[in-house]
Amino acid sequence: MNRTTWKSPLAVSAAAALSLAAAISTLHAQAAGDPQKEVDAAYAKFKGLKEGKNADYIPALAKVDPNLFGIALVTVDGKVYTAGDLKTEVSIQSISKVFTMAQVIQEQGLDAIEKRIGVDATGARFNSIIAVEAVKTVVGTGAPEMNPLVNPGAISATSMVTGSSADAVWNKIIGFHNDAAGRQLSVLQDVYKSESDTNQRNQAIGALMLAYGYIKSNWQQAVDLYTRQCSIGVNAKDLATMAATLAASGKNPVTGKQVMDAAKVPGVLAVMATAGLYDDSGKWLYHTGLPAKSGVGGGIIAVSPGKFGIAVISPPLDDAGNSVRAQRAIADISNALGGNPYAPKRTN
Ligand code: DON
Repeated sequence: MNRTTWKSPLAVSAAAALSLAAAISTLHAQAAGDPQKEVDAAYAKFKGLKEGKNADYIPALAKVDPNLFGIALVTVDGKVYTAGDLKTEVSIQSISKVFTMAQVIQEQGLDAIEKRIGVDATGARFNSIIAVEAVKTVVGTGAPEMNPLVNPGAISATSMVTGSSADAVWNKIIGFHNDAAGRQLSVLQDVYKSESDTNQRNQAIGALMLAYGYIKSNWQQAVDLYTRQCSIGVNAKDLATMAATLAASGKNPVTGKQVMDAAKVPGVLAVMATAGLYDDSGKWLYHTGLPAKSGVGGGIIAVSPGKFGIAVISPPLDDAGNSVRAQRAIADISNALGGNPYAPKRTN
């Protein structure tokens, strides 16, 4: 008797019942509304919204069409719902911080990020130097109180990606982003050049992080690779697929590839919930309950764990540096679909 394939009739019916229950609960998880209807409604509602202003501290970002508006939602079973512009790529910017952090967590474990950088909100803007000063003495003397989604922590996380050369490190970073997006991404060279010419503040942060022991060596390489990762070009569907990979416990629901271990994903989502929209993260979480991440290119990704990933691209930003239309559209769509994990839509 083949012990690995034999199942008693009872076990077979128990297994069938379990998979039926799983199928029903998946259906319940995803059937709380009509995603295409909600995506279309949000597109129509916010298309004319003119609040906010493109980021201009990187000259190339000021030139992006402020009317660009694309929405994509990808469910954990790989269904894709879209509206608006899905072709135009913007630079991923700070959204890349999530995936570089995730890669370090995947390779080195949750502890590595928590012990070296910390997973606490800083309460300061993304490129605050005062925040570095406030916690500068911590490495080696206590728990660090930074996080990998603000620049000091993000540049440090980039420095933690291992590799024998800058190219080797870069291939790992872009490879992880590619796997999460489900296609080969590339760097928008005009943005990379524009930010490299103007990133003296991040260079100062990189040097400080070396001085305080967060970065172990070669801060210049870390800042350069960080600048490159921020310049990766993505469209709304790429971003939504990346978010859906996190929603589906690390498995890209479109390609089926397990990009990171399921057990490590909740740590990534926790940092997103804590600091993904910088000093407005608490307000965002209060209204949506969704771990999310914004970028100054105008993208925001948000994750409804076990349900869907959603992304919106719209360049004009509010004072905190988060896309105005993206915040409004994601909140509306997710709340209509019962995406808030703290307030799931009742199905009975
Ligand atoms: O570090 C920077 O200035 C940018 N490349 C990334 C900033 C960013 O996206 C912050 N976002 N909300």
